[in-house]
Amino acid sequence: MQIAIDGPAGSGKSTIAKIVAQKMGFTYIDTGAMYRGVTLYFLEHHVEPGDLPEIKARLGRIRLDFKEGRMHLGERDISKDIRSPEINRRVSDYARIPEIRLALQKQQREIARKKSVVMDGRDIGTYVLPQAEVKVFLSASDEERARRRQRDLLERGYEASFEEILDNLKQRDAIDSSRAHSPLKKAPEAHGIDTTRMSIAEVVAEIISIIGGVEPCSD
Ligand code: DC
Repeated sequence: MQIAIDGPAGSGKSTIAKIVAQKMGFTYIDTGAMYRGVTLYFLEHHVEPGDLPEIKARLGRIRLDFKEGRMHLGERDISKDIRSPEINRRVSDYARIPEIRLALQKQQREIARKKSVVMDGRDIGTYVLPQAEVKVFLSASDEERARRRQRDLLERGYEASFEEILDNLKQRDAIDSSRAHSPLKKAPEAHGIDTTRMSIAEVVAEIISIIGGVEPCSD
């Protein structure tokens, strides 16, 4: 079974998707972490988003792997590094590059072919898994999303002002929604949930009830 959970930054996707996956006994795939991992690699190798020949030459060499819920670049655990304010600032500039998207989307489809998944991102219901049995699109007000992101960052040891975070979220939304290739968009058939005034448990319960009403595919 495939469950696609899309939405903008700070809408609660990863927290919710992780719990839904646990409850269903499915594998959770955080596709944002993959775009962040690629961004970390290119920044550390001083390859700018405009340098397409170098990006194409290096893409095949980037080994991203989820091991026990942690993101690895080769043998290195990059789970913390990919949440830094610098990656937040730069990730959308790399994530808009079609060559990068196609490479990661191919990996995402391969994972979902082998096992039942809850996959979160921006383009899962519209592009990566258009055949997913359940599609959910989460949203929340800009201010609420910035508050959540600030809390997340603090928990990970990064400090940033509310205004800075709000600006970053809006900028990322604008780039993510306007890019030509697989932009952030609600699939027409996706269930929209505005999480602004909902608890995590309430959102999870709503998604579980949506899943409960769906017949799983036999393949
Ligand atoms: O979900 P996140 O904030 O970790 O995602 C980081 C960035 O990666 C986001 O700004 C846009 C990009 N992204 C994407 O373009 N497509 C996805 N499926 C997931 C993330």
